[in-house]
Amino acid sequence: MKQTKKEFIKELLAKLTLREKIGQMTQLNGRYFCETEAELTGPFEKLGISAKDLAMIGSVLYLSSAEEAIAVQSKHLEDDPNHIPMLIMMDVIHGYRTIFPIPLAMGASFDPDLMEQCSQMAAKEASASGVHVTFTPMVDYVRDARWGRVMETMGEDTLLNSRMGAAQVKGFQGDGYGRPGSLATCVKHFAAYGGAEAGRDYNMVEISERLLREYYLPAYKACLDAGAPMLMPSFNSMNGVPSTANSFLMNQVLRGEWGFDGVVISDYWAIKELISQGVAKDNREAALKAMKCGCDVEMASTYYLNELEKLVRDGVVSEAEIDRSVERILSLKWDCGLFEDPYQGASSEKEVECQLTKENRAIAETAAEKCAVLLKNDGVLPFSKQVKKIALIGPFAESRSIIGNWRANGKDEEAVSVADGVRNLLPGAEIAVVQGCSAELDQFDEGEFPAAIDAAKNADVVILCVGEQQDYSGEGKSRVDLKLPGVQEKLCEAVCAVNPNTAVLLFNGRPLVLTGLHKCAPAILEMWFPGTEGGNAAAKLLFGDANPCGVIPMSFPKSVGQCPIYYNHPSTGRPKKAGDDDVFQPFHSNYIDCGNLPLYPFGYGLSYSSFRYESMELDTHELTKDGQIKVTVKIANQSDRDGEKAVQLYFHDPVASSVRPVQSLLDFKKVLIPAGKTAKVEFTITEPQLRYYDADCSYHSDPGDFDLFVGYADHPELKDSFRLLD
Ligand code: NOJ
Repeated sequence: MKQTKKEFIKELLAKLTLREKIGQMTQLNGRYFCETEAELTGPFEKLGISAKDLAMIGSVLYLSSAEEAIAVQSKHLEDDPNHIPMLIMMDVIHGYRTIFPIPLAMGASFDPDLMEQCSQMAAKEASASGVHVTFTPMVDYVRDARWGRVMETMGEDTLLNSRMGAAQVKGFQGDGYGRPGSLATCVKHFAAYGGAEAGRDYNMVEISERLLREYYLPAYKACLDAGAPMLMPSFNSMNGVPSTANSFLMNQVLRGEWGFDGVVISDYWAIKELISQGVAKDNREAALKAMKCGCDVEMASTYYLNELEKLVRDGVVSEAEIDRSVERILSLKWDCGLFEDPYQGASSEKEVECQLTKENRAIAETAAEKCAVLLKNDGVLPFSKQVKKIALIGPFAESRSIIGNWRANGKDEEAVSVADGVRNLLPGAEIAVVQGCSAELDQFDEGEFPAAIDAAKNADVVILCVGEQQDYSGEGKSRVDLKLPGVQEKLCEAVCAVNPNTAVLLFNGRPLVLTGLHKCAPAILEMWFPGTEGGNAAAKLLFGDANPCGVIPMSFPKSVGQCPIYYNHPSTGRPKKAGDDDVFQPFHSNYIDCGNLPLYPFGYGLSYSSFRYESMELDTHELTKDGQIKVTVKIANQSDRDGEKAVQLYFHDPVASSVRPVQSLLDFKKVLIPAGKTAKVEFTITEPQLRYYDADCSYHSDPGDFDLFVGYADHPELKDSFRLLD
């Protein structure tokens, strides 16, 4: 009879020496397995390990192909005395070889189904190359665009992040990881990494438990509930304690309250960094602290390998604690199917067959179209396809470096630039391309301005492609200034002044301050970093073959001084009165030199269709604790173009025992509304959706009246209210 998982693990564990067990708890970078022993003498010395230790390592991160994965795994299976396959892990964030838009852009789609589809495609591609686990979803709650890692989240709303993160888990894992074509997921970075003070990466986070539980924690939980078997603690300290050694987070909340029994893996060097964070005096204490907080796997450093044996010998860590971690790791290996097929069907042939295929490119293109946000349109877009002369200006006009950071095995040269896309769509058009200036931070050369202005004057339409370099956002990429780098805004002003038929395309990984651009540009289309098919998507959107339907997932400030800025800010005693946001109101909560509102609020985005909310009906205006209210929203597409709309329902609790946000997203649905038709969208409201964490951290709702609206942040289109009964 076939052994059960439990029996198998028990038997295997009994065979392992303590050092072999600790080997399972160590993850090393792929280079250690791909270079020769001689090449690794120096690096081995730094890690304090021998070539023999390498044979018992439990997992590896970053291998770049099926060939490499198969070679590394088969050698490992020969060398490891217990023949335990290694887990191969990687950051497959927004695609593996075919890259789809960055997560922040995917947030703009407000479309979890799209996220699921894209993640499934990425899983298939990565699995063909031998990857078993992806370090996704990243669902860190964010409010500060200075932090470069906002590009990896799905925006500033907990509900949006939760749904998108769960969709990633579903997409990557399919009906269950452990079969070719799927990957196991790892939720990160637990917790509150996005709260880094001043938006500076790796910086400390000081946060109330109330705020943490209400806004930061739910998305991690949603991903675990969706079935993610792994979790990664964050680099930052939270309220004085780094997450990897934070007993409140790891023992009380994660393992205790949430009952998570999956694998916890440290972030890269995070155990080692407990020393630089000043909470461990040496390697031994760092290992001990992480171990006591239930960290099963150490990524990249080898303090476990070098210290845990002694800690067990000294009786500070019990072997039972080690066994518990190893059981979890072996259990994940079993669930990933590694004891049946350590390669999970990876092969070079399969890579050719399933990576960067026409179908995958089509999915990436659709995604790029659905993530684009039309920020402004004075009627110039869509351009007519009959135009003869097109000027393509700006540092991103011909650039293929628009796929964004965290590109796994994606390659810039395989991407479609805007120029490629326009040529593909309009092969007969006369196209002039001028870079105009650089997108680098310290480049202010205006030498090409005259050529750009000439090209603009001579063209029927101008496409201005500006933004941030793709490596200006991502890990360790914080900025203090959120303007377009260099002289790009000046270039835009000069070009827009000579040709009113100009549309600006933006490529960026975070909300930018676009106040100047908004004034001068007749049309602005936010493309984010759109991935491999970005250029084709851009061309179709510009010339009307696709209709923009993305909406802002994270507020675009008017000034960097407004950061952190977010739509669901708490009520104040002196709110600004309605009127011109930019007019200062003495002794009200506002600035003397800037308005309070963002330039582009959460949920905002234009379309070539014109939508009108017709009605919002509630089947009852009284909600009981176990009852529900059905909300029916009718929305008409009054144009002759089919269009998609992110229908958003918001609520406000005007009287509660703690200060509540001025508005909170209650639910959303993305719907396709054919030209001239009306769509009916239904939402259900139940009492748990109205709960919040009170000052004493009790979780409850307050009976009484609630306001409701559809529209987008700060822009109610239809309002109603209901009463929650006691
Ligand atoms: C560090 C990053 O913080 C994390 O997100 C990533 O998964 C690991 N490195 C591994 O690449």
